[in-house]
Amino acid sequence: MSRFNLEFVPHLTQKQFLSCPADEILFGGSLGGGKSCIAVNKAFILGCAHAGIHIGLFRRTVQDLRMTLLQEIFTWYPKELYHYSDKNRTVYLPNGSRITLNYVENDGDLENYKSVQFDVLIIDEAIDFTEYQLSWLKTTRVRSSRYGLARTYLLTNPIGPARVYLKKRYIDGKEPLKLYKTKETEMIPDEGIEIEGILVKPK
Ligand SMILES: Nc1ncnc2c1ncn2[C@@H]1O[C@H](COP(=O)(O)OP(=O)(O)OP(=O)(O)O)[C@@H](O)[C@H]1O
Ligand SMILES: [Mg+2]
Repeated sequence: MSRFNLEFVPHLTQKQFLSCPADEILFGGSLGGGKSCIAVNKAFILGCAHAGIHIGLFRRTVQDLRMTLLQEIFTWYPKELYHYSDKNRTVYLPNGSRITLNYVENDGDLENYKSVQFDVLIIDEAIDFTEYQLSWLKTTRVRSSRYGLARTYLLTNPIGPARVYLKKRYIDGKEPLKLYKTKETEMIPDEGIEIEGILVKPK
């Protein structure tokens, strides 16, 4: 693929997210902080950089996908560099990579992904999912044989069903922007701490 310039100029936290090497990242932020925007731009950059990969973008409902991520895609992706099939809810890049728009409204929807493999999993408003849904997608569906990518990125507001899980896994006892090994922390009560900044967990 030839070189191109994205119109997109990331804010500071978006830049930190783009350059973070962790396999797993929680990007938290307040309303309108640029989470959905950076989710789709990160997908595009990774898709262009690695030919033939599958990037799965997730929201809880199809309506959420259409009203947020799809709008960001239409805003930011250079028109000459992709083809979008609404039937498949898939963005096709010239190098064979694809970015699919997916949803998990309830546990039954996980059936749709039983034999799907994502090189990169990006879940926007991750807090709207349940711990089971997030864990199942992350642990069973993310594999990247060609490039060893196997990345999981969660973007989220602070309030929702998965708050306790996300706080326990990515926030309690951790500092923003530091890299941590995978390790489940002890369950502690929700203390009402807001999720802010970027918290990361590498290999
Ligand atoms: N770096 C940027 N440059 C220009 N526009 C941006 C940038 N980041 C985000 N935006 C725009 O700002 C608006 C809000 O961003 P976005 O929807 O990504 O925020 P959000 O954190 O997902 O909000 P919400 O919490 O409501 O889901 C969108 O129109 C988006 O395209
Ligand atoms: Mg958003």
